[in-house]
Amino acid sequence: MQENRLVTSKALGEEEYSDNALRPIQLSEYIGQEKVKANLGVFIAASRQRGECLDHVLLIGPPGLGKTTLSAIIAHEMGGSIRRTSGPALERPGDLAAILTNLDAGDILFIDEIHRLHRSIEEIMYPAMEDYLIDIVIGKGPAARTLQIDLPPFTLIGATTRPGLLSSPLRDRFGIACRLDFYLEEELERIIIRAAFILGIAIDSGGAREIARCSRGTPRVANRLLKRVRDFALVRGHGQIDQETAQRALELLEIDGYGLDTVDRMILDAIIIKFGGGPVGLETLAACISEETDTLTDVYEPYLLKLGFIHKTPRGRIATARAYELLGYPVKAGLETGSLFADDAQIQKE
Ligand code: ADE
Repeated sequence: MQENRLVTSKALGEEEYSDNALRPIQLSEYIGQEKVKANLGVFIAASRQRGECLDHVLLIGPPGLGKTTLSAIIAHEMGGSIRRTSGPALERPGDLAAILTNLDAGDILFIDEIHRLHRSIEEIMYPAMEDYLIDIVIGKGPAARTLQIDLPPFTLIGATTRPGLLSSPLRDRFGIACRLDFYLEEELERIIIRAAFILGIAIDSGGAREIARCSRGTPRVANRLLKRVRDFALVRGHGQIDQETAQRALELLEIDGYGLDTVDRMILDAIIIKFGGGPVGLETLAACISEETDTLTDVYEPYLLKLGFIHKTPRGRIATARAYELLGYPVKAGLETGSLFADDAQIQKE
């Protein structure tokens, strides 16, 4: 419903493509995710030395953190082409078979939202990943025959926001798993300064810091906010982004100092006021803000959890004392001492 929300970590409309100019091409240009970068650097160099394909890679993490960007970097560093598709786009086993049989040796196949791959399609993936071959069934009934087709060696890169939804046979076939985490403010600042340079926008470190602070740890949000603050600087300011211009622009965009917007505050408000602070079930909460449950869990929740405004319990989501303070409500009795939800055994940490 909230499709044009500025701070959503989902790609908006054509953004997936229009942001191409801002994407780093080489691993050395990629800012942040230091551990992932260091490990991938070693695995890529080793595969190149052996003259082999890189092992299959699973990229895990919330939307907007750079899974697509990293996959293009891997293809570039390995010197192969990249073919992109997504779990929901592959409807029939034949769709995947057509893609696989058209790959060249050393190509990268990127499957976004791989947790949404249909089980019958997933089964084609097992021998393809393990032995570079696929079994195709020709005909039906007693006359049916299986034809085995060899594939060129390739690397599958799967991206997922929900690794828990992957079947274990599929998960086990990835030799490399990288978990991307929210970026530090200082890393986002560098990403914003780099993007401003590419876009030809004048920005100082105060302006970059202000935008970074509101970017929810997410480069996609940072780049989007940068573009909107630029518009503001051009029309209402002096065409340059400093701290004050950024602050005023973000205020007008109704984004607070944590990077929370009206939808985030609506979620917290609903838990506190409509559901007495929680626990409230995911479906109920999603219906309350007219969103799909998947969007709530993938897009909104991770950042609210990270900032400690909500907790997950086995009975549902609860608002923390911090959320009450943010919205200016008196904190519910027992919440600060932890006695209120003692029955919920343990708060489930993300
Ligand atoms: N643009 C988007 N993500 C980036 C990153 N991690 N490093 C540099 N530029 C980026």
